[in-house]
Amino acid sequence: MSDFDVNSLFVLEIFVDLLILLLGIGVLCIAYMYVVDSRQTKHAIRRNFPVVGRFRYFFETLGEFFRQYFFAMDREEMPFNRAKRSWVYRAAKNVDGTVAFGSTKSISEPGAVLFVTHPFPTLAEDYAAPQAMIIGPHCQQPFKASSFFNVSAMSFGAISQPAVSALSRGAAQAGCWINTGEGGLSPHHLEGGGDIVFQIGTAKYGVRDDGGKLDDEKLLAISAHPEVKMFEIKISQGAKPGKGGILPGIKVTEVIAMTRGIPIGEDSISPNGHADIRSVDQLLTTLAHVRELTGKPVGFKLVVGGSSFFDELCEAIKLRGVEQFAPDFITIDSGDGGTGAAPQSLLDSAGLSIRETLPLVSDRLLEHGLRDRIRVIAAGKLITPVDVAWALCAGADFVVSARGFMFALGCIQAMQCNKNTCPTGVTTHDKDLQKGLDPTDKATRVASYVANMEMEVGTIAHSCGVREPRQLNRRHARIVTDLGQSVPLDVLYRKQAEQNPLFSTSSEE
Ligand SMILES: Cc1cc2nc3c(=O)[nH]c(=O)nc-3n(C[C@H](O)[C@H](O)[C@H](O)COP(=O)(O)O)c2cc1C
Repeated sequence: MSDFDVNSLFVLEIFVDLLILLLGIGVLCIAYMYVVDSRQTKHAIRRNFPVVGRFRYFFETLGEFFRQYFFAMDREEMPFNRAKRSWVYRAAKNVDGTVAFGSTKSISEPGAVLFVTHPFPTLAEDYAAPQAMIIGPHCQQPFKASSFFNVSAMSFGAISQPAVSALSRGAAQAGCWINTGEGGLSPHHLEGGGDIVFQIGTAKYGVRDDGGKLDDEKLLAISAHPEVKMFEIKISQGAKPGKGGILPGIKVTEVIAMTRGIPIGEDSISPNGHADIRSVDQLLTTLAHVRELTGKPVGFKLVVGGSSFFDELCEAIKLRGVEQFAPDFITIDSGDGGTGAAPQSLLDSAGLSIRETLPLVSDRLLEHGLRDRIRVIAAGKLITPVDVAWALCAGADFVVSARGFMFALGCIQAMQCNKNTCPTGVTTHDKDLQKGLDPTDKATRVASYVANMEMEVGTIAHSCGVREPRQLNRRHARIVTDLGQSVPLDVLYRKQAEQNPLFSTSSEE
């Protein structure tokens, strides 16, 4: 036997010994797990199916990631199905947005929105650019908002620093506003130089005194930024009405602490409501105070739970004076809105859908003669041109989206926003994971998303025979009912108002 053969045999022997050792260890581990599983009393599956039962947890975790690729159909997933997400991805990447062969959407399914096409669509030479709209005409500094599609509130903390930078720069390129969310105004919000809506949350981050009350000097300092165009008082958020937010201390970095005006490294907990706003009158007083102090438009955001609040609100506004006390805008969030973290019961079942509340609020304001004074901003899964065009038809002056813009930033709906493990860097403060989100590249995607949204809502408008999206109204869209037939929005909402106690003025909440 040659030296080479002897060496080869020796290596083979070691390899076989190692293999036997590993197999032995493996068998021992399985035996150990078998004994542990069959003796423990906490997990029924593991007790009844020792060792094999453990795979359940493994597959459950993998399912979160792989379901969307292998099993879910185009229109199946929640909160956002693949068809909708894909539209946003294509729009953000500015790639061909056309689809071949035919629609995967059933147009006879109840709830489907169908637009009323005109036999003679608007010709290209008659197209008009979407009109800018003034918010807060009676303020010292009214805001002329150019885009009907804007970035909804997402606090710095809930989303990462590169995400805020990309949104700020992208929104500036697109000419739309970003809303700071309740986490205050950071230097990253100012990077792009575009329009900003400053949100005053229940903890009043960024504008709070040591006792957590509104600090007028800090408010004035925020308002001194020319980029800050409006203030939004957050009453509630669709995903968690009546619940405050919590940002764990580990996420309260130096910049976040500075932005919010709180200590570094300590849990950041916002109360579930404003201690100083406990009635319609106090709400109107606060709105008027902020507007008087800053000279800029002020409104509030809420998720609607019923209609009587709006009657009380409108009556109080008329009593105290429309010019001075009316909110310049109301942002209506949907009960199925998004969040960084919320209890499942509130996420699933608290607050009404924007599909129901947008027409309701718009009509209530109209009935009280306040519709022209108060702008209506709608939010809640309005991320594609069909959603946005429906909202404009139903009564919205503006549409805002949070998760649509998260998709534009690269979000893959991994549903990890509350874990600091977001794989795309959008909602994590882990520097390694944030590396994947390049603010310059993603800013372009944010801008393209807005541009393509405006273009395709325009396409729907032209198909309906009007010159630009703001001319869409309730006669331009229909909704398929339970009988499989569609009804125009103007007829449907009038009928609802007549038949549904929720829509009637005398309803009790
Ligand atoms: C990560 C994240 C953070 C959010 N933070 C806030 C916030 O600070 N203040 C607020 O009013 N709404 C917040 N929202 C709610 C959104 O602004 C929006 O109202 C809601 O998600 C509905 O819009 P969408 O369906 O387009 O996401 C947040 C949503 C998400 C997904």
